[in-house]
Amino acid sequence: MNKNLYQPISSEIIKIIDESPTIRSYVIVPEEPFKFETGQFVELTWPGVGEAPFTPSSSPADTEKMEISIMKVGHVTELLHECEKGQKIGIRGPYGNGYPLDDFIGKHVYIVGGGVGLAPIRSLFLTLIDRIEDFKSIVCRFGARTPDDFIYKEAVFGHWQEIEGVDMKLTVDKADDNWKGNVGVVTTICNEQDVDVSNTVAVICGPPIMMKFATLKMLEFGFKPAQIYLSMEKNMSCGFGKCGHCMIGKYYVCKDGPVFTYEQIKDYPNIWD
Ligand SMILES: Cc1cc2nc3c(=O)[nH]c(=O)nc-3n(C[C@H](O)[C@H](O)[C@H](O)COP(=O)(O)OP(=O)(O)OC[C@H]3O[C@@H](n4cnc5c(N)ncnc54)[C@H](O)[C@@H]3O)c2cc1C
Ligand code: FES
Repeated sequence: MNKNLYQPISSEIIKIIDESPTIRSYVIVPEEPFKFETGQFVELTWPGVGEAPFTPSSSPADTEKMEISIMKVGHVTELLHECEKGQKIGIRGPYGNGYPLDDFIGKHVYIVGGGVGLAPIRSLFLTLIDRIEDFKSIVCRFGARTPDDFIYKEAVFGHWQEIEGVDMKLTVDKADDNWKGNVGVVTTICNEQDVDVSNTVAVICGPPIMMKFATLKMLEFGFKPAQIYLSMEKNMSCGFGKCGHCMIGKYYVCKDGPVFTYEQIKDYPNIWD
């Protein structure tokens, strides 16, 4: 844990990577070592501009630098897309819970992700492959709107596919002339036969509509709600359980999440909004 969770640590953006037409990754070096667990989030502060929550996409094993992938959706993220290498920003956190990796030991990990949801998934994936012998297999089913919208293209289209113990399939909603893979939403590449459901955990992260249909698909395959892990996003302000902006039922997404099992939240209304 960092010394003061509420005090931003001054940090420098040392590299910017254009991932897709709307998403950029920022390699950030905090002035002091920064620890987080995969799945936790940070608040990124640009003094005078604003603040927003993001989940690091890098491995927690790297405490010297951190990567954050940001999709341009509104005021703060548009301004963050303007910033350049060398920009000083603040990072506070980490907040919330991470993925309970010890509960995944000895099981297949079935990861379904899409869009900027691949950011937390990349961090999880890098963590899992570091200790891949602990898991039965890692099954990845990733989707994007078009091939150009995939982030981490080099890894996703390349070396991640070759890792022993990893079974990866990709799909796009709309192909281009070079796309040879599946066309259709991400659930079209999920099959009940992919894994032994009784010994599998599912991890789902992406746009709310994708999370909803992927969860329904997992339930159809026979997953129990407690076997499905969801990375939830709600509008946030403080990030540490004070302002009440981020509630799902009795839970603070910032403090009790952002990772929840479907079992925990399934009975609350509007969880996919
Ligand atoms: C735990 C958590 C982790 C996240 N991780 C990432 C990430 O890794 N990469 C990434 O690109 N985005 C991530 N987000 C979403 C990101 O925080 C929002 O896109 C950002 O705050 C929008 O700010 P804005 O000023 O650009 O948009 P606004 O102009 O405020 O709004 C544009 C849209 O974004 C939604 N939005 C606004 N503020 C938030 C907020 N604080 N949280 C969620 N949605 C919001 C609004 O409902 C609206 O639909 C995460 C959100 C949470 C809660
Ligand atoms: S963001 Fe303030 S209580 Fe969760």
